[in-house]
Parts: sequence; C-alpha cells; structure tokens
Amino acid sequence: MGKQILLILFVLLTLGSSAQKFEQLAKTPPMGWNSWNKFACNVSEKLIKQMADEMVASGLQKAGYEYIVIDDCWQVARDENGEIVVDKDRFPNGIKSLADYIHAKGLKFGIYSCAGTKTCQERPGGFGHEYQDARTYARWGVDYLKYDWCNTTTQDARSSYANMRDALHTAGRPIVFSLCEWGTAKPWEWAGKVGHLWRTTEDIVDRWESMINILDKERDLAKYAGPGSWNDPDMLEVGNGGMTTEEYKTHFSLWCMLAAPLIAGNDLGNMTSETKEILGNKEIIALDQDTLGKQAFCFRDNGDYEIWIKKLVKNGKAACLLNRSDEEKTVQVDFNVLLKSNDDYWSIEPYKLQDYKVRDLWEHTDLKPDKNPLFIKIPPHSVKVFRFIKN
Ligand code: GLA
Repeated sequence: MGKQILLILFVLLTLGSSAQKFEQLAKTPPMGWNSWNKFACNVSEKLIKQMADEMVASGLQKAGYEYIVIDDCWQVARDENGEIVVDKDRFPNGIKSLADYIHAKGLKFGIYSCAGTKTCQERPGGFGHEYQDARTYARWGVDYLKYDWCNTTTQDARSSYANMRDALHTAGRPIVFSLCEWGTAKPWEWAGKVGHLWRTTEDIVDRWESMINILDKERDLAKYAGPGSWNDPDMLEVGNGGMTTEEYKTHFSLWCMLAAPLIAGNDLGNMTSETKEILGNKEIIALDQDTLGKQAFCFRDNGDYEIWIKKLVKNGKAACLLNRSDEEKTVQVDFNVLLKSNDDYWSIEPYKLQDYKVRDLWEHTDLKPDKNPLFIKIPPHSVKVFRFIKN
C-alpha cells in the first residue's frame, strides 16, 4: 500500500514537472518591436530585416529594445504532415534564416500564432498542433511567442494557454510566452503560472481616447504584476501619427509607470526626432525596467487630474501627474506627500524629503524641493514625471 502511494506520488510529480513556464525570463517587462500596429499584414523578410537594422542604427537597441516580433500573416497553410507553411513570396529564405539575421545583431526574435483553429487574419492557427509548432519554433530559434485568441469557439482559455506553455517547455528552448486573449478570462488571476505577459484589454487604437481607456482598465491590476509576470496594456502607438507629441509622451510615460511591456509599433526607419526622443528616453524607460517590478497605483483621482505612483528599488519612487483634460492645468504639488504615498491609502511611508533628490524625467533636470509645495503647469493631455532618488 505504502509503495503504491509512493508510486502515485512519483507519477504525479513527474507529470507535474513539465507543467511550468520558463522561469528567469522577462524579469523586467520585455522591450522590443512588433509589426502589427503599423504594418498589419504587410510583413516580409525585407521589412523585418530593415526594422532590425533600424533598431540598432537608431540607438534604440542600446536603450533596451531587444525583441523583433513578426505578428500575424507570415503563415499561409499546413502541409500534408501538419507542418506550418511560411509565405514563400514574402519570406523567401524562411524563418530560420531571418531569426539568424536578427540574432547576429544581438537582438532576439519573436513570432505570432493563435490558440484557435485560425489566427485573427484567418491564417492557420495552432489548435491541435501545439507540440508540433513548439518544436518548429524551437528549431527556428524563436525567443518570444505572442499567442492570440481568435477562432477559439468553446475552448477554455486557461487550459488552451497551459497546453501551449507545456508544449513550449517540452520543446526545450526558453521562449517568452505572451498571452493575447484580451483580458476576457481575467488572465491576471491565473496567467502568472502560464506565461510572462498577458493582454488585459481589447486592441489599442492610435487615438488618445483608446489609450486613456486602457489606462483606466489597468487600475485594479497592479497587484498581479511582478518579475516574470506582466499585465500587457497592448503595444505602443508612439510615432504612428494618430496622437500629438504630448499625447505620445503621456502614453509612453504611463506604460512605463504601469511596468508594461514596451513593444514599439511604429516604422523605425521613418522616425521624427520627437518619436526617437520619446521611445529612447532612458530615464523614463528606467522606471519601466526597475527590478522591483511594481506596477504603479493611482494615488489621487481628481477627475481630470490623476497622480500615479510607482515604487522603485532602494526606497525610490516615481510620480506621474496626469492632466486628462483638454485645458492646461496649474496644480499644487507637495513632494512630501508624493514621497510618503503608499498604495495602502491609510498608511504613509516614513521617508524624509531631505534624503532625496527629485528629478524631472522629461526635462532631465534636478529640482530643489525646498520650495515646497510648488505650483506646476501641465499642458492638456500631458504629464509631469518625477523620480525620487535617495541620496
Ligand atoms: C488581434 C491582436 C492584435 C494583432 C491581431 C493580428 O487583434 O489582439 O494585437 O495581433 O490580432 O491579427
């Protein structure tokens, strides 16, 4: 009897051992570029190589951007053995050679598929081919997989994504697993054990209203984020033309405060100096990449004016003052209050302002917090971002 129980335990343990995601990946939110927001189905080997080149030439690789991800439309069919068939016209040398090209630049390579029978653009999906596809991705040198949720009919999200996680783990190549089921089955509650990031909302659109709507949906999700497990409010629209420069600064600042994956979605070969400056603002990126891995919480909500706070390593903190309105606002800012802010509304932290330097992360200047409180002007749809750094 004792032996039987031991045997059952052994079997359960060995079965359980493949049911895991790759740990030690995405300890900070993944950074990179993805083809969808700008190019949709217009992807090709030429374009992806060009974007990899530009990632390096623009200096964005040095700022931390790493993954080059092809989204939907690289695949056209399955062959008689069920193997996925690549669009030969658009990717004449196949995916492996493209991955090699990207790796040779010191970048990483990502690809897209879908948990359903077809992708969102009606290309062959992964359903029923999970282990086969995972082996293919491992062979090609894939480092990142975005897995969508179209054409899934009655599939259960949790088990479908767990199945792909197990397939990737069995294939043996460490791959960042990005769940893209738009928050429908509350992935924040379960996906930490399945993948490294999970979409929380519908698709972003390159407009202020869409971006700010997504922000509102992130508000209660802060507690689910941490090293290796990130809420994904969708890819960046910075530089795509539908928002003003101020709005893009706001978009980027908020995504960094949220510890969101920073996946650029613009044409890297055709960037204005403003776009480059936003995507390359290392001081703002440092908030996103802070190794404590805390997502910001909304500390004050005064309707059109909000204050978001992100805790950082070494008792540091960032404060993002957001003017959502269509008019300029003059706000009174008390750095003492911001520094002592806590996500637990009723308690304050015992930090002393005199022990800290205060930095304006868009002006790149240090502030003298001696004149406190300060009155600060914030343009419409804009932010001020301050960082408290312990002396
Ligand atoms: C869904 C996803 C998008 C994109 C498209 C591709 O809409 O949410 O991010 O991948 O599919 O078809």
